[in-house]
Amino acid sequence: MNTVKTSKISIIGAGFVGSTSAYALMLQGLCSEIVIVDLNKEKAEAEAMDLSHCASFVKPVTVTAGDYKDTANSDIIVITAGAAQKPGETRLDLINKNIKVFKDIVPQVVQYSPNSILLVVSNPVDLLTQIAYEISGFPKSKVIGSGTVLDSSRLKYLISDYFEIDSRDIEAYIIGEHGDSEIAAWSLANVAGMHVDDYCHKVSDTCEEDFKRVIPEKVKNAAYEIINKKGYTNYAIGMAVARIVESILRDENSILTVSSLFEGEYGINDIYMSIPTIVTRDGAKKIVEVPLSDSEKDALVKASEMLKKHIASSEL
Ligand SMILES: NC(=O)c1ccc[n+]([C@@H]2O[C@H](COP(=O)([O-])OP(=O)(O)OC[C@H]3O[C@@H](n4cnc5c(N)ncnc54)[C@H](O)[C@@H]3O)[C@@H](O)[C@H]2O)c1
Repeated sequence: MNTVKTSKISIIGAGFVGSTSAYALMLQGLCSEIVIVDLNKEKAEAEAMDLSHCASFVKPVTVTAGDYKDTANSDIIVITAGAAQKPGETRLDLINKNIKVFKDIVPQVVQYSPNSILLVVSNPVDLLTQIAYEISGFPKSKVIGSGTVLDSSRLKYLISDYFEIDSRDIEAYIIGEHGDSEIAAWSLANVAGMHVDDYCHKVSDTCEEDFKRVIPEKVKNAAYEIINKKGYTNYAIGMAVARIVESILRDENSILTVSSLFEGEYGINDIYMSIPTIVTRDGAKKIVEVPLSDSEKDALVKASEMLKKHIASSEL
């Protein structure tokens, strides 16, 4: 494994997600330079100024607001720009608005950082990652979506809360779409090396019949609930971005449920969705074709078909 190198990250979009991602990157000391670009230049400048004032509390990092030329030679471009969900909207409702935004952004970041990795966060993240892949002409490994890294963290948190154990001791994944069709892959969920069902029945003091139905519902509805109450989500996605960036910059070979291009896995082709993927300095190195139950596989195939229909009917 490599140690952390001096790295430049550009964040396109200085909204709630972009600015919180910059903050998370800073706190973790993951890079030496952060450039923030936004159509709203004043917002980008204000975020860069405010973040710069953390200087005496964090490892050295320069944070500036700039134009696309200032993003030149970035190691990673994090795209968080575009319309966000309003109360009552689904992520898929944003597709046409955000395709336009991506047609503006992607060619410009590619021009200045042809060797970078694109990390797409804007929603609908799976479809926009696919669009960024097609517009950029980059190899598939270098275009990644944040996918269900956030949802998997929500799942682990809720399992940990249910069993009253540390979230970091749980291995569990949300796979498929980062959206309403997402799938809790219970067949892979482990606690202390035991399948979650065994842990529930043999170890836990609490084990209700329907926990595997109730918890994924809460995961799926988490963003809706937060958006209804405060208008946006930012902290956990900021940490998810920092976790993916860390895995890339440190060449960790971490397994994360980023959104990756399926090319035959589970019989699915030509669509970006989330699945455990090995993440390295070169990006998404390899999808781990984990053994899924038949119903999980069916749900994954259905999600891919649904996403393909959305791409086909979008205003490309
Ligand atoms: N993938 C995830 O898990 C996840 C989680 C939360 C939010 N999101 C998504 O992230 C995106 C941003 O959310 P937010 O809450 O930060 O929204 P926001 O409205 O606070 O910020 C969006 C920013 O994008 C900028 N922007 C719009 N078009 C642009 C362009 N062409 N070039 C440069 N900047 C442009 C706007 O000026 C704004 O500052 C949304 O699409 C949201 O749905 C994804």
